[in-house]
Amino acid sequence: MRAFLTGATGSVGREVYRALRGRSVEVRIAARNSRAVADVLPGASDVVTFDFGAPSISPTQFEEVDAFFFMTPLIETQVSAALRVLNAAIEAGVPHIVRLSSRAAGWDERSKLRDWQREVDDAVRESGAGWTILRPCSFLQNFIHYQAEAIRTMSSIIVPQGDGLIPYIDALDIGEAASECLMSPVDHQGQTYVLTGGRAYGVKGVAAEIGRIIHKPLTYIDVEEAQARDMMLQAGTPPWLVEAGLAVFAHAKAGGEAAVDPTLTQIIGRPATSLSEFVERNRDAWT
Ligand SMILES: NC(=O)c1ccc[n+]([C@@H]2O[C@H](COP(=O)([O-])OP(=O)(O)OC[C@H]3O[C@@H](n4cnc5c(N)ncnc54)[C@H](OP(=O)(O)O)[C@@H]3O)[C@@H](O)[C@H]2O)c1
Repeated sequence: MRAFLTGATGSVGREVYRALRGRSVEVRIAARNSRAVADVLPGASDVVTFDFGAPSISPTQFEEVDAFFFMTPLIETQVSAALRVLNAAIEAGVPHIVRLSSRAAGWDERSKLRDWQREVDDAVRESGAGWTILRPCSFLQNFIHYQAEAIRTMSSIIVPQGDGLIPYIDALDIGEAASECLMSPVDHQGQTYVLTGGRAYGVKGVAAEIGRIIHKPLTYIDVEEAQARDMMLQAGTPPWLVEAGLAVFAHAKAGGEAAVDPTLTQIIGRPATSLSEFVERNRDAWT
């Protein structure tokens, strides 16, 4: 079997790649930068040049592909870009698509990003191919990508989340779940799966655990939403992405993000990676 992989250098994509290769599946990586692929996934051989921003996508890239891992990068033109890619895959006759969406697409009616994600999810459902949609909640990796600098320089995690709880999920687990859905399409066809970690944490709890493992006490700074908005905009985050992030923090603060869903464990056949396991594995990211 051959899988076609977008976002292979990203948090989830690299884990989908590792999980598939661990089960001897052939993987075609679609990437805009082959050097980045070589750095992140040494040994990857079937790499095609692919850019979501390209004016057209050739169906030939999808030739002899049995399953397609379909993430969309966080760009403003993601709907038109994703639809071009989807059409090329359908024209080539790809039989099954595993689409990376987000849990917030199930409730957030306020942010453009979630409208865009729902639009692409619906297009996948109506495409005529088999499909599985994955809707994970907030990634544990966010504490690396968005908080590592504050942890290193200020011994702090700074977010507007109050005492709200989230069952953060490890991208490694999403990768395993995606690979399972790619490899066993009949078992997962037509399903929209909400994926979460096994236990919900507040930011105070996450700060305590990272601090314990890196031997540095961390403080949770619970800022107001307006201050968080200013900080994100100043850091260069586009406004539509800022608003989508703030919606999740506000939802968590109001208690709406705390639910743990058992689906991940049912798909991967083991418990979700724990917070401690994740922090141990990535301890160098914060020091
Ligand atoms: N973070 C969360 O808490 C969370 C929660 C739920 C859902 N999600 C969803 O997860 C998705 C992001 O996944 P991720 O975190 O694995 O991604 P990521 O780590 O942000 O990586 C983005 C990937 O997309 C590729 N990419 C970016 N622009 C591209 C372009 N124009 N053409 C081709 N490839 C391009 C990047 O490749 P390069 O090497 O070329 O940069 C990279 O492989 C988003 O759709 C987000 O909504 C995130």
